[in-house]
Amino acid sequence: MKKLDTRKLRAHKLSKTNKSLQMLTCYDYQTATLLNETELDLILVGDSLGNVVLGYETTVEVTLNDMITFAAAVKRGAPNKFIVADLPFGTYSTFEDGVKNGIELFQKTKAESLKLEGAEDYHLEIIRRLTQSGIPVMGHIGLTPQSVHELGGYYTHGKDESSRNRLINEAKRLEAAGAFAVVLECVKEEVATEITNLLNIPTIGIGAGPLTDGQVLVINDLLQMGANKPPKFCQPIANLFELKKALIEDYLSTNKEIHQQDGNSLHH
Ligand code: KIV
Repeated sequence: MKKLDTRKLRAHKLSKTNKSLQMLTCYDYQTATLLNETELDLILVGDSLGNVVLGYETTVEVTLNDMITFAAAVKRGAPNKFIVADLPFGTYSTFEDGVKNGIELFQKTKAESLKLEGAEDYHLEIIRRLTQSGIPVMGHIGLTPQSVHELGGYYTHGKDESSRNRLINEAKRLEAAGAFAVVLECVKEEVATEITNLLNIPTIGIGAGPLTDGQVLVINDLLQMGANKPPKFCQPIANLFELKKALIEDYLSTNKEIHQQDGNSLHH
């Protein structure tokens, strides 16, 4: 499969081929080598690694150095994929920080692009400058987990008229600022579809219905790698947590039997 780039992404939108773009998160080298051999379109090294890899309660604790370490590992494992790396919380609170940290993340990880959350004026200025400097930027609106404390929790956006208008306005502003695509997270299906029809850049949905140009999922949810149930909008295709647990339990009991036969048990 040919590696995707921003030109192909734009063409994908214009051709209206109806083939949904598929993006999954990835945080480590070995999983990246696996995804590199699949038909997956885009890899997101999301700051969701704070939750699923580092065990934090929110993504607020993820640092620029964390993102550099994990995104660089993914890039080493998946050289044939278009990689998007998240700018973490607090690294783009001002124009100067956003540009400086964006360049550092892009340069040190060799990711093909960056993603940041929000569509305030200063976000748009950062996107404009990074894009002009040669760094493609993906936008992210709706539920923006880095602002969970300010938003007051995790919930669906676009349910009333003012929220709908705000999302449409934000999506248009992101496109005008130069974003090459935009993630719509937990956005009411009708509003996500409306935005998808209004924009000339691809929309990538998560919990936003089936009619966006692409879909993104956290790979740990899709494969159910953790002890907790994935969010409602994700139908897992496996339960790796239970599978791995059973395999390890099987290994441990077999091993114990062998040691006991050898007279080499732990309890001698
Ligand atoms: O960090 C992440 O995984 C994300 C997706 C949920 C879109 O931003």
